Amino acid sequence: MPQVLENISLKMLNTFGVEAKARWFVEINSEDDLVELFSDQRWKRTERLIVGGGSNLLFTRDFPGLVIRMNIKGITQVIDGDDIYVTAGGGEVWNDLVNYCVERGFAGMENLSLIPGSVGASPVQNIGAYGVELKDVFFSCKAYMIETGEIVSFTNNDCKFDYRDSIFKRELNGKVLITAVTYKLSFQPALNITYGAIATELQKREIAAPTIKDISKVVSDIRVSKLPDPSTIGNAGSFFKNPVVSKDTFKQIQSVFPDTVHYCLPNHTVKLAAGWLIEQCGWKGKKIGETGTWKNQALVLVNHGNASGVDVYNVSEEIISDVKEKFGVVLEREVNII
Ligand code: EPU
Repeated sequence: MPQVLENISLKMLNTFGVEAKARWFVEINSEDDLVELFSDQRWKRTERLIVGGGSNLLFTRDFPGLVIRMNIKGITQVIDGDDIYVTAGGGEVWNDLVNYCVERGFAGMENLSLIPGSVGASPVQNIGAYGVELKDVFFSCKAYMIETGEIVSFTNNDCKFDYRDSIFKRELNGKVLITAVTYKLSFQPALNITYGAIATELQKREIAAPTIKDISKVVSDIRVSKLPDPSTIGNAGSFFKNPVVSKDTFKQIQSVFPDTVHYCLPNHTVKLAAGWLIEQCGWKGKKIGETGTWKNQALVLVNHGNASGVDVYNVSEEIISDVKEKFGVVLEREVNII
């Protein structure tokens, strides 16, 4: 039976590095641990929070229920011609898996290098960066259904992936635990270098025919230059989603702010760069006590050392209010607020 601990500090378990306590805490190392844990009916009735790398969470209070830390490890692969099906335990560190694949020439994940977090969390918010989203390489996952105790397999379609969204964030929130994920990769790289910053960097380095190792290195370097390292400055990556507005709304905004950074999407909608909107409101690099936004990326809220979750949350409220006042656009948080 996995050991359930009481009144455990979560400071080391969230990349914002804010203090919060879990009433109960358990670490899961196998599917058997899950079966044993939930054989005690009490845990089925208790409020639960599932944590992987803790890189997309902001605690604004102690958690009164059971925090479940997923730590199932292991990476295996099956090769079928040019395709490789790589299966990783939900508790593997995402970037360790990316490195494992890049080193072996398994192509598809290289643009997702250096994203913090765990394998089990990767489908939950359909992680994405530099023109690639998890859904592009996701094949299937296995999940433990808390109510019935079954292990169920989810295909790519079943997951209802959308921009930083999936069925696990909605209908199945808190009801399942992802124990393993299988990714479909290829020995034939279909490189995605459409993202401006990657193309520019490759040119600078005079790399005309990049390998997936080159892409992984370039992406990692770009991330390091823009985003703070959570091991030294607490943060959870982009704090807000990039808002999607109608073409009409965009035209109104553009008539007042001709330089508005935007990307046209299908179905007459336009995605705005939240970082740009926030910067225009004078928030880039602004410090309020121990919190504020990152100097190189206004979309990232940071803990300079001793901020509380409430301090960070209050700054996010101020930012939402300022962006709404200036642009009439309401930013939605990407980070889960507890
Ligand atoms: N920008 C500014 N000021 C800023 C920040 C950005 O003007 O302070 C402008 C940039 O100049 C650029 C545009 O906004 O023209 C987009 O910026 P960037 O390339 O940094 O990407 P992003 O849209 O801010 C998204 C993802 C990131 C991902 C990058 C790269 C979301 C919410 N965020 O950020 O994902 O790494 O693209 O693909 O979609 C995350 O989800 O935690 C995350 C870091």
